Amino acid sequence: AQTDLFRAQMLAWYDTHARVLPWRVSPSAGPCFTANPYHVWLSEVMLQQTTVQAVIPYFGKFVDKWPSVHDLAMASSEEVMTAWAGLGYYARARNLHKCAQVVSRENKGKFPNTLEELKKLPGVGDYTAAAIAAIAFDLPATVIDGNVDRVISRYFAVTDPLPGSKPEIRALAAGLAEGRTDRPGDFAQSMMDLGATVCIPKNPRCDLCPVRDGCAGRAQGIAAELPAKAPK
Ligand code: ADE
Repeated sequence: AQTDLFRAQMLAWYDTHARVLPWRVSPSAGPCFTANPYHVWLSEVMLQQTTVQAVIPYFGKFVDKWPSVHDLAMASSEEVMTAWAGLGYYARARNLHKCAQVVSRENKGKFPNTLEELKKLPGVGDYTAAAIAAIAFDLPATVIDGNVDRVISRYFAVTDPLPGSKPEIRALAAGLAEGRTDRPGDFAQSMMDLGATVCIPKNPRCDLCPVRDGCAGRAQGIAAELPAKAPK
């Protein structure tokens, strides 16, 4: 029941506060408009080690140049590397191109819709597979990035430091996502957006938080100090 309430509060907040991002389908578009798996995959690979603000122009450039995964597969490596220049971590660009070729040639341009098959694709690890499964296919995958680590540590007052607390955070996040078929993609993105705009690292804006009443970190007055980091 606590999980039902948490999800309902997060989804209601997302309906009015979701960031408008070019790879997203607006919740107001209604259930007929589903996310484009090619766009979701491309954005998630770009977002692996790069900020949302830096990714936005590159995402636009890629989908203008290569509107489908087939178009990207047919590009030359040089073209892809040139378009990627500036985003960094260039292994991502090589894997991106390889992945486009696999999906285009072996899968007729369709991205697989299971975690297991997604993880076999070049450049798609645990995080990206879960993000694509949830956002593109509305599967109840547990999606955890740095923002989600922070939201979960604070809400459940996880005081053990990162990275040792990762398994505990993962278990708590899975408890909010597993078996939950109501808008898994929006829920995953609501957690990311809350972490990026409200549950921010310094001076969290708890007054604006849709789940503040249930937040154990806030109740204990320690939200701003979490997640704890192991001393280097
Ligand atoms: N960071 C990684 N993936 C994201 C997404 N889909 N929305 C917002 N931030 C993200």
